[in-house]
Amino acid sequence: MLKVGVIGTGGMGGRHVRNLYSQTPAQVVAVMDVDAARVQEVADSVGGCAAYTDTNALIHDPNVEAVVIASPDPFHKAAALACIAAGKPTLCEKPLAMNTVEAKEVLDAEVAGGKRLLQLAFMREYDPAHLAVKAVADSGKIGDLLMFRGLHTNLALPHARTAEDVIGNSSVHDIHSARWLMQQEVTQVYSQVVPSDPARPETCRLLLTHMRFANGGLGLIEVNAEAGYGYQVNVELTGSAGTTSTPRPAAALVKTVGQEWLEIEPNWLVRFEVAYIAEVQAWVQSVIDGRPTGPSTWDGYAAMVVVDACVASFKSGEPQAVPELKRPFLYE
Ligand SMILES: NC(=O)c1ccc[n+]([C@@H]2O[C@H](COP(=O)([O-])OP(=O)(O)OC[C@H]3O[C@@H](n4cnc5c(N)ncnc54)[C@H](O)[C@@H]3O)[C@@H](O)[C@H]2O)c1
Repeated sequence: MLKVGVIGTGGMGGRHVRNLYSQTPAQVVAVMDVDAARVQEVADSVGGCAAYTDTNALIHDPNVEAVVIASPDPFHKAAALACIAAGKPTLCEKPLAMNTVEAKEVLDAEVAGGKRLLQLAFMREYDPAHLAVKAVADSGKIGDLLMFRGLHTNLALPHARTAEDVIGNSSVHDIHSARWLMQQEVTQVYSQVVPSDPARPETCRLLLTHMRFANGGLGLIEVNAEAGYGYQVNVELTGSAGTTSTPRPAAALVKTVGQEWLEIEPNWLVRFEVAYIAEVQAWVQSVIDGRPTGPSTWDGYAAMVVVDACVASFKSGEPQAVPELKRPFLYE
């Protein structure tokens, strides 16, 4: 049985612990969080396991064979580097790091070790609706892929988010989806924002990113950071011979006096419930088999390069070229 340690036990880490415990053959043997009460509560929820408040203590626990990193974004890089140095297979939440320079450090460390150890938690690759679109695209039924469209809405937050956070923390998912579904690198971006607070231009209510891909294809990503009505993620691909788009995930049809409507998920934990389970199941199996699968450190790095270009575009108000990247042999 694979023995897993989980770093960060908040919304996402807590969900990974629950899924590992109830949906995979893995055993959760250690959890870590800076919140001592929270980490103990989560340790108790899996029938008791080691509970740490120090990241390195979990990573170097000899009982921990593989690690899930679900701490806040600024802590991913250091934890990922420590896991690579310790040779422990890792499922790392997105984003890989806070910027391209940090992400490159992680990429270089993995390449230097000569072995794929990290999987990035871009869970849309495990979402049935996205997989249906991917299957159509790969089948050639809609011909050559010409355009990607992504729509991403969040319900709302009690505070305004900065454009940098919306791009790096949320839209990084859309950027990965665009690369994954188009099977192309992004060469140019143009990111524009409508601020949540007109007096604070650094805030972001709406983000619109235009993209150009290496094959000449186009992309458009809309993120509504506080849509007010719910959480939605939809994609559409336009091909030379047709289009394909994500079907609505199972949603209740409600009829009441004079009205009929479909319910919308409130957040990602509901919308991607199935994907999160499939993701940890596939990751655990890949570690057991010793055959890394799924989104790689390369994908985490390449997405980060596009994120940085989007941030530069938002700040300059101009389209921004995305540097051409050379994929290391390890990720061919
Ligand atoms: N893949 C997805 O769909 C998805 C969805 C949500 C969040 N995330 C990512 O998961 C990570 C966690 O997000 P969340 O929603 O669980 O946040 P959260 O705020 O719910 O939980 C974060 C937890 O991390 C703990 N923490 C703080 N500093 C820490 C540190 N240095 N080391 C370890 N733990 C620390 C906090 O005490 C808290 O329990 C983030 O990187 C986020 O981007 C991914």
